[in-house]
Amino acid sequence: MTSPSWSVRRPPALDDALIDQLAAVLIDCVDGGASVSFMHPLTRDRAVAFWRRVAQGVAAGERALLVAEDALGVCGTVQLSFDLPENQPHRADVSKMLVHRRVRRQGLGAALMQAAEQTARDCGKTLLVLDAVTGGDAARLYERLGWTRVGDIPDYALFPQGGFCSTTVYYRNLDEHG
Ligand SMILES: CC(C)(COP(=O)(O)OP(=O)(O)OC[C@H]1O[C@@H](n2cnc3c(N)ncnc32)[C@H](O)[C@@H]1OP(=O)(O)O)[C@@H](O)C(=O)NCCC(=O)NCCS
Repeated sequence: MTSPSWSVRRPPALDDALIDQLAAVLIDCVDGGASVSFMHPLTRDRAVAFWRRVAQGVAAGERALLVAEDALGVCGTVQLSFDLPENQPHRADVSKMLVHRRVRRQGLGAALMQAAEQTARDCGKTLLVLDAVTGGDAARLYERLGWTRVGDIPDYALFPQGGFCSTTVYYRNLDEHG
């Protein structure tokens, strides 16, 4: 078996170069039709503004960002949000799992999620929650990795080119998957 061509790390801060590359990954995903909060076309300015807000959250310790990099630069990312009510100190939300189309279907999505789960454990979290487009590539990934499906919310969001999509909510109890 060949070893993966990427490595995953948790940068303590995001500089302009990293923000630029993360923006490129986000734009690629939206161009590819992913429903990840943005409508098409996603301009570089809007994408950079999004990652600058993420950078503030990382600096404030409110979120953890993981990035995957290969020889061409950033090719994937995922986040954990810890900015939750005080009665949920054991929980984190997983968001913005993004893999550039040039490296899809090689196991990076699974590797990023496993890294996110380990990061959550390292931060003392025992419960993770996320949602994904019903029946999409991400939903299939989470079900394959053993996440528990809670249910669907019809017409939750729009696809980037328009048209409603349903979302499916998932959770994972990390105590049960040590
Ligand atoms: C969802 C997403 C993150 C998955 O990333 P990925 O890196 O392609 O994920 P993986 O490679 O781990 O798995 C994807 C598929 O490739 C297959 N695969 C993994 N390694 C493989 C390999 N070496 N050879 C062939 N197939 C492989 C997996 O079995 C899986 O198959 P399936 O979709 O038929 O179940 C990616 O499609 C993406 O970024 N989509 C757009 C953004 C998005 O929707 N994000 C989710 C927000 S909730």
